[in-house]
Amino acid sequence: MNSQTHSALIWTPELSVHMEYLDNQHRSILRLIDTWWNKLNSGKFNATKENLAKIFSFLNRFTQQHLELEERVLDILEDHFDYSTETVAGHKMRHQVFRDDIMGHFHQDIMLRARSGDNGMDQLRPIAKWWVSHIKTEDRGYADVLAALTPERREDLYVHLIDSLLNRPIVIVGYKQFIKALRQTS
Ligand SMILES: [Fe+2]
Ligand SMILES: [Fe+2]
Repeated sequence: MNSQTHSALIWTPELSVHMEYLDNQHRSILRLIDTWWNKLNSGKFNATKENLAKIFSFLNRFTQQHLELEERVLDILEDHFDYSTETVAGHKMRHQVFRDDIMGHFHQDIMLRARSGDNGMDQLRPIAKWWVSHIKTEDRGYADVLAALTPERREDLYVHLIDSLLNRPIVIVGYKQFIKALRQTS
C-alpha cells in the first residue's frame, strides 16, 4: 500500500453522507483498516491463523453492521421519500458483491496465506480502495438526498429508522473492542 492510498484512508468531511451515525461507521471502518495495516506494516502483528481470523471477524462485523444499517436507511428513503427503487436495488447489489465476493475472497486468501506464514497485508489494499470509492460514489447518491431534507423530514426519517431498529435490532461492535483484540495479536 503506497502513501497515497494510505492517506486516502483518513475520513474527511468530504466523505460525509449527512447522517452522523453512518459517518461514524464509515470512519470506524477506515480506521480499523488503517490501524490493522499499520500494525502489519510495523511487523508487530503475529500472523497466526487465529489472529488473522479474529481481526478479520472484526472487519467483517463492522462491515455487516454498517451495510445493514445503511440498507435500512435506503429502504426508508425508497418507501417514504421517493428515492428510486432501481438506485436502491443497485446499491444493495454492490453491497452484496462486497459481502460475498470481495470479503469472501479476502477471507479465503488470508487463511491460505496464514499457512505459508504470509500475513496477507497487500490484500487489504483492494478492501480499502473499495470503501473509499463506494462512499464517494454509491453512498453519495443517498447522501445528497439526506443533505436536502428539511428538519421535519429528517425527523420523519429518524422516526422510521428507530421503528425499524426496535422491530429488528442490529448488534453493534465498538471500535474499542477491536483495539483490545488487536493488542492481543502481537
Ligand atoms: Fe456506506
Ligand atoms: Fe453503501
